[in-house]
Amino acid sequence: MAPINENFGKLPGSYLFSTVAQKVAAYRAAHPEAKIIRLGIGDVTQPLAPAVIRALHGAVDEMGRAESFRGYAPDKGYDFLREAIAKADYAARGCDISADEIFVSDGAKSDSADIQELFGPDAVIAVSDPVYPVYVDSNALAGRCGTYDPAAGKWDRVIYMPCTAENGFAPDLPGDGADMIYLCSPNNPTGMAMTKDQLQRFVDYANRTGAVILFDAAYEAYIQDENIPHSIYECEGAKTCAIELRSFSKNAGFTGLRLGCAVVPKDLFRGGASLHAMWARRHGTKFNGAPYIVQRAGEAVYSAEGQAQMKEQIGVYRRNAKVILDVLTAAGYTVYGGVNSPYVWLRTPENMTSWAFFDWLLEEKNIVGTPGSGFGPCGEGYFRLTAFGTYEDSAEAMARLAQ
Ligand code: MLT
Repeated sequence: MAPINENFGKLPGSYLFSTVAQKVAAYRAAHPEAKIIRLGIGDVTQPLAPAVIRALHGAVDEMGRAESFRGYAPDKGYDFLREAIAKADYAARGCDISADEIFVSDGAKSDSADIQELFGPDAVIAVSDPVYPVYVDSNALAGRCGTYDPAAGKWDRVIYMPCTAENGFAPDLPGDGADMIYLCSPNNPTGMAMTKDQLQRFVDYANRTGAVILFDAAYEAYIQDENIPHSIYECEGAKTCAIELRSFSKNAGFTGLRLGCAVVPKDLFRGGASLHAMWARRHGTKFNGAPYIVQRAGEAVYSAEGQAQMKEQIGVYRRNAKVILDVLTAAGYTVYGGVNSPYVWLRTPENMTSWAFFDWLLEEKNIVGTPGSGFGPCGEGYFRLTAFGTYEDSAEAMARLAQ
């Protein structure tokens, strides 16, 4: 009999957003009349921008003509997209990242789950607590997290970096022994962002200890404060210790199209091996490239017209975040995030647990959010609302909450 990967059996429950979806489906089945507003999973609601749609149509037409048809995409991505990313996301910010260091992918979720393949089975991961569950679950499936203690809500081989109101939701350095450090800023789920100085401390730590930082920049388009870096490569020395993951989902609404990239600098070596060469090898083996039409759509995001339209879309979500923040604050909730981020992180009222508040919100107000404890033990007593709904839904949800 084929031995199976027993690490699957060690994972606690189902994936957070699947659990939420199942609970909502059960409620809907019991209350078909309920007008449920979803501010749970961070999925966008605005249609793709006209510049993106035009690029998609153009690329589809190209695929329908023999002379412009394309088969397999280059596994690292088309040069037109890698160069657009290098220019707009890096050169324009003074970061020395070349197109050849960019690996186009089908999104940051799969990249953030797959990137652990670069590291050995005994590598120790350090994560913020609370944390986007994919980082931990993907390492648990690779057998790297040890044993899960349901009472503590923790794995015994993971270093947790608590992010609490006391430390402003900014993680402290992980202490000794961390090999792979996951950071997400602006953060999912707390909506808080690290300053350049805070991030620089991690870069210095990683260069000193030999750890590698896996920096998830999926929400950088929401940054408004000037002292918050959009890329880890704005920090000195990051090219020798950090991999960055980027996404087109939250800045350009590609949650359904799927597009992202990983930046693996050529200066990044561990144990004498080039992580860039390893990721290229891994990409060549496991990936046949993101679809041509989607990469052309991604290129359109960087056109002048595309950039103006993205700004408008982000403006809509920022306005939602503001209405959520304003109404919750006026109603006496303690709230965080929502300024440099599309996520608002609120303290549950009256010391309710995160799941008790989830049930109350669903049953009494017909609003769906995400329980903080689903992101880690320090998320207990907190709750996440996303600003990715429509403005009407966000405002209506807040009107219901304010009652
Ligand atoms: C979230 O709600 O945390 C995100 O939408 C999940 C994701 O981007 O995969």
